Formats: sequence, C-alpha cells, structure tokens
Amino acid sequence: MSLESINPSGTVAWQKIREHFEEMYNVSMQEMFQEDANRAEKFHIKWEKFLVDYSKNKINEKTLALLLELANEIGLKEAIGSYFGGDKINETEKRAVLHTALRAKKDEVVLVDGENVMPEVYAVKEKIKVFSEKIISENAKGYSGKAFTDVVNIGIGGSDLGPAMVVEALQFYKNHLNVHFVSNVDGDHVQEVIKKLNPETTLFVIVSKTFTTQETLSNAETIRSWFLQSAKQEDVAKHFVAVSTNIQKVTEFGIAEDNIFPMWDWVGGRFSLWSAVGLSIALGVGYNNFDALLTGANKMDTHFKTADFSQNIPVVLALLSVWYNNFFGAETEALIPYTQYLQKLAPYLQQGIMESNGKSIGRDGNPVNYQTGTIIWGEPGTNSQHAFFQLIHQGTKLIPTDFIGFKKSLYGNEDHHNKLMSNFFAQTEALLMGKTEKQVQAEFEKQGISGEFAEYLLPFKVFAGNKPTNTLLIDSLTPETLGSLIALYEHKIFVQGVIWNIFSYDQWGVELGKQLANSILSEINEAKVNAHDASTEFLLRNFLSL
Ligand code: F6P
Repeated sequence: MSLESINPSGTVAWQKIREHFEEMYNVSMQEMFQEDANRAEKFHIKWEKFLVDYSKNKINEKTLALLLELANEIGLKEAIGSYFGGDKINETEKRAVLHTALRAKKDEVVLVDGENVMPEVYAVKEKIKVFSEKIISENAKGYSGKAFTDVVNIGIGGSDLGPAMVVEALQFYKNHLNVHFVSNVDGDHVQEVIKKLNPETTLFVIVSKTFTTQETLSNAETIRSWFLQSAKQEDVAKHFVAVSTNIQKVTEFGIAEDNIFPMWDWVGGRFSLWSAVGLSIALGVGYNNFDALLTGANKMDTHFKTADFSQNIPVVLALLSVWYNNFFGAETEALIPYTQYLQKLAPYLQQGIMESNGKSIGRDGNPVNYQTGTIIWGEPGTNSQHAFFQLIHQGTKLIPTDFIGFKKSLYGNEDHHNKLMSNFFAQTEALLMGKTEKQVQAEFEKQGISGEFAEYLLPFKVFAGNKPTNTLLIDSLTPETLGSLIALYEHKIFVQGVIWNIFSYDQWGVELGKQLANSILSEINEAKVNAHDASTEFLLRNFLSL
C-alpha cells in the first residue's frame, strides 16, 4: 500500500492549529512556567535511558492536542504500518524503506515482494561478525604476513557520514584498529589519508550502494594504484572488500565475490549504517558493540511503533518541529550535543534530514503550498556557546534547539562533567528566561555602572528569552543509547515527511549537479568550453586560462 496523499494545509486540524497559533505566537513561556508549577511534569517523556523534556516550548495542552489531532487526521498510524510493513513507500523509486529490518529481531518476519528478508539480513550480519573478528583478532593478515593496523572506509554521503559519525562517537569503545575515512573527490583528501598508511597493514572497505559514484570510484582507483606500487595484483583480495548492491560492478573493479558484503535497494544510503555499510564500525569497535547499536535502534523502533503518540518521542519532536516550521516560520533547527564524541552528529543528520525532507512536490505530484524540510545545523556544546550562540540568544531569528546531554561521562571526570552539564542546563534556562531590564539594572548597581552610560547600555544587555528548546538527557553514551538516538531522528524524519505529504526517501535533487559535472569534466579534460550561462562560461575560461 502506498502512503495516502493528503495536503496537510487542507485538514481540519491544520486550520485549528492556524487559529490556535494566533493565540500562541506572542505567548510568554516564562509566564506559562509561573502559572503552572507542573509544566515540566506534563511535557516530558521518560523512556528507557532517555528523559525528553519538551516543556520549554511555546505550547500548552491545547497545542499538543491539536498537533496530535493533525497526526491522526493525516493517517500517521497507518503510515507507520506501511513503513515497517515493507510497503513501497519510496514510490518514485518503487522501493520499500526497511532500514528498520536491519535491526529487527531474528524471528521477525519482514516481507518484501512477499519474501521474508530476515534470513538474508542475518546472513550478512554473520558475515560482518566473522570478518570483523578475523581482522580484529589478527587471524587474517596482510600480504606480507603482518596484522592489520588500519582500516580505510572509501565512500561518500550515506556510505561515509553514518560510519564516520558512529566511529567517532564510539571512540571510547575502540580497539587497536585505526579507522580512516576518504570521501571527497578532492585528491588532497585521499593523499592526506594514505600518506600516513602502510599498505602492508591497511584494509580498504569500498562502500557504495550503487558502485557508480564518481567520488568513491575515483578514490578507490587512486588507492588501488597506490597499493599496487608496493603489492601485487593478487594481494588486492586480502586488502580490499566492498559493500554494495551492485555485485557486477564490484566484480568488474576486481574484488573477489567472497569479499563483497551485499546490501539491498530497500535500504536508503542515508539510513544504511545498520547494514554492511557499518562494516568499518564493526571493525573499529568490535561486532558486539555494533550489534548493541542495532539493539538500541530496534528498541526505539518498538517505542515508535507502539507508544501512544502523546508519549512517543519521535512523534512529539516531529510535531513540535512542524509547529515552528509551518506556523512560526522558523527556517532552521539547531542540534547541540554536550559531548565532543557527537561532533559529527549534526553533519550526519544534515544528510538524513535535508536529503529526505528537502522536497517541494507533494505526493500528489503538485507543488506544495507550505514549508517542508528544516535546515539543520549544530556543533557540540560548550564550543558552540563561544561560536554562534549569540545569535540564538539575541538575534532576530527563531531557532528551536535540541540539547542532548548525558548524566555520566565515559572517563568519569566529575569535575569536567559537572562543568559541562552546568553549561547544558544554564543555556536552556537562559534561552527560556532571558534577562529583564530589572535584572540588568540590579547588575549595574552592583558593578557601579550608572548614569547616561547605564541607560545607553541597558537595551544591549537585555535578553528577551522565550526561545524554545528540547532537552534530551540520556544516561550515558553507549552503543545502545547511540543506536536509539539515531533511530529517534530517523523516525522524526519519517513523521515529518508523512505530514508534509512528500516522498522522503528519494533524492532526485542531487542528480542534476552530478550530470552537469560530468559534461563539464569532459570540457575541462579537452580544454574547450561549450555553451553555458555567461557566468559559468566566464569562470571556466578563467580556470582553463583560455
Ligand atoms: O548524494 C546522493 C547519494 O545518492 C546519497 O543519497 C548517497 O548516500 C550517496 O550519494 C552515495 O551513494 P553510493 O552509496 O551509491 O555511492
């Protein structure tokens, strides 16, 4: 069954929300907190090792009820059934969207075209386990008999961002293998990575769902040539493995069938880290940790499928985001993890969120008449506080922000962790409460600032506050909690795509640039410029010194 096509702006709930917005857009969160001592009690969800406090939002009980009404009117429950049930909800590519099957339990039955895919999923999981354990335990050796010390993941987009983010996030759990990532077609990138490596002790994992991606194939060829400067052709089999759906192209590249880890067209690139695309994760932190990541994601899947919408973390966060995006006109959302380990979470989710929901054609084939995908950005706290927080606090734009923090640090340095977390709590409090004229004046008095200068300075020192935030407080950063966290945002993407009536699982928008780059490449190689717009022609002539 395909997803129903319902224009959200034509629903009864949407009209009610629009009217309700008129009552709410000027509301003071400070006042709502003063009036209701139970606000945090009402607007939070506790689940497993997660506490999600969403009370610091411009909402009241009616807002939430209306947003939930929208979810129901749009048919979210049925849509979730189609998503998990293997329906071809990626309609423009005629594919199911089943990254959830990659972390499902072994005895579950997940049908694609009437066939249960779980035996295949588990066969590949077993292959990942056996292979990664062989490399980690040093039972498999390189061509000169030495054990492997380094792994290079060669891929881009979903074949790079997920594994790179998780390997970085789970550094605490890493083994002796050093995992590197080569993605950009910029030759300086690959050069900087290989210059530190010894071909005798390096394993290369080429990851490309299609195995046609220019960047990945160029980097793989460059690396293979570099490898063959010191090794023989027959050594390639010991040092190169590939993850792809395109077995023929991988074989043509010269990789032995045994060294191919299959994936499936029902796994989208940006949701693929749970498949063999995560091989470098399993190599870097061990198979058991990789499996725990999958377990965490599976727990979030169950929560998303079964929890009442009012208690459902991905649903509530998605609805709040719709509230700001479509009614307040907020264009961006910030994501601030209070751990350096998650420094790649925002770039990773940029692909997940913006490639999925950056669409302007509705499921009925017509342009949408409302805003869709949010722009996502962020950096870890506290660094970001010293970089861009000024704009969130006192700028003219409304930027709903998710704060992600952990109760415990991994190395247990309490002094540092308490400082980190005091900043975490202080920021959401500051964003909510701001600083009034009265408070600034009291500060001036203490500091001995008075007279004309005090009057002049006053408006610059006042913070309006009233800035919305969600706080995700998680016990600690483990493979399992990380898996749940990533799956949470995956499902938030899904819910928003359903509401916005768009297809979240294709990405036609990235194709045009690829096509043009190919024709421009021929022009560059032949040093001749064909007809383009005047600016592109001018730039190309300049680049080619013509
Ligand atoms: O940029 C578009 C895209 O298709 C992404 O969706 C994908 O993750 C990436 O390119 C890499 O594709 P592949 O894994 O096929 O090399």
